[in-house]
Amino acid sequence: MEGQPNAEAIDAAEFVGQPNDLDSYWMPFTANRQFKAKPRLLVGAKDMHYTSADGRSILDGTAGLWCVNAGHGRTPIVEAVHKQVARMDYAPGFQMGHPAQFELASRVAAMMPGDLEHVFFTNSGSEAVDTALKIAIAYQRAIGQGTRYRLIGRERGYHGVGFGGMAVGGIGPNRKQFGVTMPGVDHLPHTHDPARNAFTRGQPEHGAELADRLEGLVALHDPSTIAAVIVEPVAGSTGVLLPPKGYLERLRAICDKHGILLIFDEVITGYGRLGSSFAAEHFDVQPDMITMAKGITNGTVPMGAVGVSDKIFDAFMNGPEQAIELFHGYTYSGHPLACAAGLATLDIYRDEGLFERAASLSGYWEDAVHSLKDTAPHIIDIRNMGLVAGIELEPIAGKPTARAYDAFVRCFESGLLIRTTADIVALSPPLIVEKTHIDEMVDRLGTVLKQVA
Ligand SMILES: Cc1ncc(COP(=O)(O)O)c(C=O)c1O
Repeated sequence: MEGQPNAEAIDAAEFVGQPNDLDSYWMPFTANRQFKAKPRLLVGAKDMHYTSADGRSILDGTAGLWCVNAGHGRTPIVEAVHKQVARMDYAPGFQMGHPAQFELASRVAAMMPGDLEHVFFTNSGSEAVDTALKIAIAYQRAIGQGTRYRLIGRERGYHGVGFGGMAVGGIGPNRKQFGVTMPGVDHLPHTHDPARNAFTRGQPEHGAELADRLEGLVALHDPSTIAAVIVEPVAGSTGVLLPPKGYLERLRAICDKHGILLIFDEVITGYGRLGSSFAAEHFDVQPDMITMAKGITNGTVPMGAVGVSDKIFDAFMNGPEQAIELFHGYTYSGHPLACAAGLATLDIYRDEGLFERAASLSGYWEDAVHSLKDTAPHIIDIRNMGLVAGIELEPIAGKPTARAYDAFVRCFESGLLIRTTADIVALSPPLIVEKTHIDEMVDRLGTVLKQVA
């Protein structure tokens, strides 16, 4: 009908294939000038594939950014979010609530191991980490241990970009632009030891003793000053570093001995990546708090959360009943759309058995990624667990990161999305991945590695 845009016209109007201004948007963790000279734009996504602005199908080897664990464009999630936004767009979270927050919190609590029975909602992994660090310090004060303010992270750790997460994080470039970070922070050594562990399948044999370095930090600072240790059970963003056998157990034991809380940052490892709900369950090591984000809503609506033990929660639940127990929270904590997306996501994980699926595919995945050792050049280490793999390339002399970046661009051009950090390729597909997709990923990456300098 004249004057009425038809469906195609609406689609075309919404299609942002050719933005006319690339300048205004300051892109995160991106070489802005390099990107804008030759942009890579995504405009659609379904199941295992993205669609690029030039209409190509791109196999998603990274679940977006480690978050789209149930695959893209899942109808129940889309419908749940639609319904929720029409019913109630927003509800204030302070001194008010809405049913989906409570339902999602109890569903998450039921998935967490041991006595992690309470959930504090945030909007991102970074906020989850800063929240957990604040809860750790506030908990120590609540139990009369107010001298415990120190936080211990780990070299090469990534805990997001807030001041707390940056301080406990251990990736140099993420810190050095920003001057002094939080005081009272120290770091354990990382566990990457290619000289002893290169090409290990699953957990490395060597390195449990690196956990004992915590005893050194305890001796240096005195246990009465240390509130918490935070580690990623598997370090993701730094390039997939696995915990040596026995390492996490030892960290737990040393924390217990000295009254230090142990926080697992499971923003990447949570929600099935290792073939279990959380890495804590996979490694059978019980933390006092778990930070999570990404997979909790399948990446559809931003959300993070902190899982908190009974012991910690109960320490706050005393004093006068009208008193606010924790002076912390976000305008969008437990946002209705995020809760709707979260509930629909957890239903899919459960109904489709996606965590079990990841576990059952992990052997095929392992064989496939390790086959690259014999078929592709430049590889100095391959490591894997569940549905995640790190493939470390030898850097070009004098040009660190150049080889992996070249591989990333060539993969994208050939129809595969990978992630690179320094000279490490990380693969972490949606858990709905089929064996044929795994073959395709390994094949394309192998071909590209033969083409790069
Ligand atoms: C272990 C870990 N913690 C925290 C974060 C930060 O999450 P966000 O980017 O949602 O703030 C990330 C992001 O990749 C992560 O991998």
